[in-house]
Amino acid sequence: MKLSIFGTGYVGLVTGACMAEVGHSVVCIDVDRSKIDKLKAGAIPIWEPGLEPIVTRNVAEGRLRFTIDVEEAVKHADVQFIAVGTPPDEDGSADLQYVLAVAVSGNRAAFLPTSSAGGDRIEADWLRSVASTALG
Ligand SMILES: NC(=O)c1ccc[n+]([C@@H]2O[C@H](COP(=O)([O-])OP(=O)(O)OC[C@H]3O[C@@H](n4cnc5c(N)ncnc54)[C@H](O)[C@@H]3O)[C@@H](O)[C@H]2O)c1
Repeated sequence: MKLSIFGTGYVGLVTGACMAEVGHSVVCIDVDRSKIDKLKAGAIPIWEPGLEPIVTRNVAEGRLRFTIDVEEAVKHADVQFIAVGTPPDEDGSADLQYVLAVAVSGNRAAFLPTSSAGGDRIEADWLRSVASTALG
């Protein structure tokens, strides 16, 4: 299956690498150009024991690539994973602004971020409104 992972941090990079390792074709996308440049140069920007050989092998075998290009990631994917950060809001709840900023255009989306109680309902409402806009 063709997958895109939005957010190439601890969760997104590990998810993307493991999905590629089991045979999926994965594009990892991030807004942080320096992070993507490092990954393209073969460096792993996070500390995660055992991750480097998995990333290296799957990049070499063509199942894993990195980009900052949203259109490339959207076009690639049967399923898009959202793995951006959810920092604590002023009241301690998860701030969903980065999750909601990730566009899903017509494809199915899976959410990995931590969210507070009710966050899943907000995301579901948002997805419904995106889908109804896309479908007219
Ligand atoms: N790290 C963990 O152990 C862990 C465990 C369980 C749940 N989570 C949850 O998973 C989610 C991700 O956590 P993380 O630790 O991977 O965060 P992280 O900060 O390591 O990575 C998030 C990445 O998302 C990128 N990003 C932000 N906006 C973006 C956008 N619009 N498009 C593409 N990329 C974008 C950031 O540049 C960053 O690289 C959070 O909700 C977190 O609470 C994390």
